[in-house]
Amino acid sequence: MPCPYMIADVRPSVRYAFDSRLIFIKMSERLQKIDQTLQQLGVGTSDQVSALFAEVRELFNSEEALHRKENDAANLQAFWTAWLGRKSGVLTRITENWLKPSQPEQKRNVGQELNALKSHIEAVRVEQTAAIEAAAEQTAIAREREDLSLPGVTRPLGSRHPLRQTFEEIERIFLSLGYSVVAGPEMETPYYNFEALNIPEHHPARDNMDTFYMAAPQGAAPLLLRTHTSPMQVRTMEKQQPPVRIIVPGKVYRRDNPDATHGFIFHQIEGLAVDTDITFCDFKGTVEYFVREFLGPKVKTRLRPSYFPFTEPSVEVDATCVFCGGRGCNVCKQSGWIELFGAGMVDPAVYGFVNYDAKKYSGFAFGLGVERLTQLKYNINDLQLYFQNDVRFLRQFA
Ligand code: DAH
Repeated sequence: MPCPYMIADVRPSVRYAFDSRLIFIKMSERLQKIDQTLQQLGVGTSDQVSALFAEVRELFNSEEALHRKENDAANLQAFWTAWLGRKSGVLTRITENWLKPSQPEQKRNVGQELNALKSHIEAVRVEQTAAIEAAAEQTAIAREREDLSLPGVTRPLGSRHPLRQTFEEIERIFLSLGYSVVAGPEMETPYYNFEALNIPEHHPARDNMDTFYMAAPQGAAPLLLRTHTSPMQVRTMEKQQPPVRIIVPGKVYRRDNPDATHGFIFHQIEGLAVDTDITFCDFKGTVEYFVREFLGPKVKTRLRPSYFPFTEPSVEVDATCVFCGGRGCNVCKQSGWIELFGAGMVDPAVYGFVNYDAKKYSGFAFGLGVERLTQLKYNINDLQLYFQNDVRFLRQFA
């Protein structure tokens, strides 16, 4: 259908900008007739009336089709105002100029034609509104629809820190032996950290356990960051009568300068078993079982005499070198053995601090260094790697 408003030499954007006015101008040109009375137009018979209304209807239809195609909200508004505007819309003018002044014998006929035109226009409007709403809804649905062809969001999987893995592995082993896992405070009193573990004030064992002391108000008991998890031996026995079988995983602190084998923070797992009739054999069996579970069935263990103030006798638990299988290498300094951890039978002096009857009860204790055991398991040569959180390091344990 030829477009009545198309002006060929005007670019579309310009045409749109002036469109509402164009409609108006064009309409008034084509519909000059609506500003004249029927008499002036020489329309008398009902056929002539019908033909005139048909002309208007056709004009409306063609304009409406055009707007529908262009689907531009501002122009649509102008279009409806031009037709339905109360003051000077086409329908108003037809009412004023054709209907009102019409001859009495024409009036009924003109009125019917006008009503038919009105309801036609109204029907189109309702239909157009519905179509616009439906289209808007379609657009919204399309916009909100999930595009399943888009690439997914990759969430790189995290993994547990190697130290955490060691903690969990050790906990698993001791839980299977009937031990419970308990946690204790990282801030301790000197009493639990030292005295009750048979390390009195000027004991040389305190030298390598220099730590961080909290500033305490005058008269208040001083507090320190625990240097080992052993204080939980005392705290547990204070609260509980034998049988005691616990492990205590946790952080410990020392005033050490960081290097490949030292840090001011590291991790331990304390172990304590106290009951009637616990012998050195039980101790040795437990330790061997643990080492084999943790490092593998081929590893052999040996107990080397050592000293800790809270165990008697005290030992260092050694294992055949995991790197050379005991033949001798750089890591084990050609000895074939590597040191794993300290342990021993609980010194009866400690029972004195917790009111256990040393004649009735006996037991053993051990203190596992989590960094060290992890180091041996994965051949890690620098303790600082654990704390730098470099994903290139951590990823290897995923
Ligand atoms: N608490 C000791 C330390 O940090 C380790 C230790 C040795 C704990 C022997 C024990 C033990 O329970 O029996 O150096």
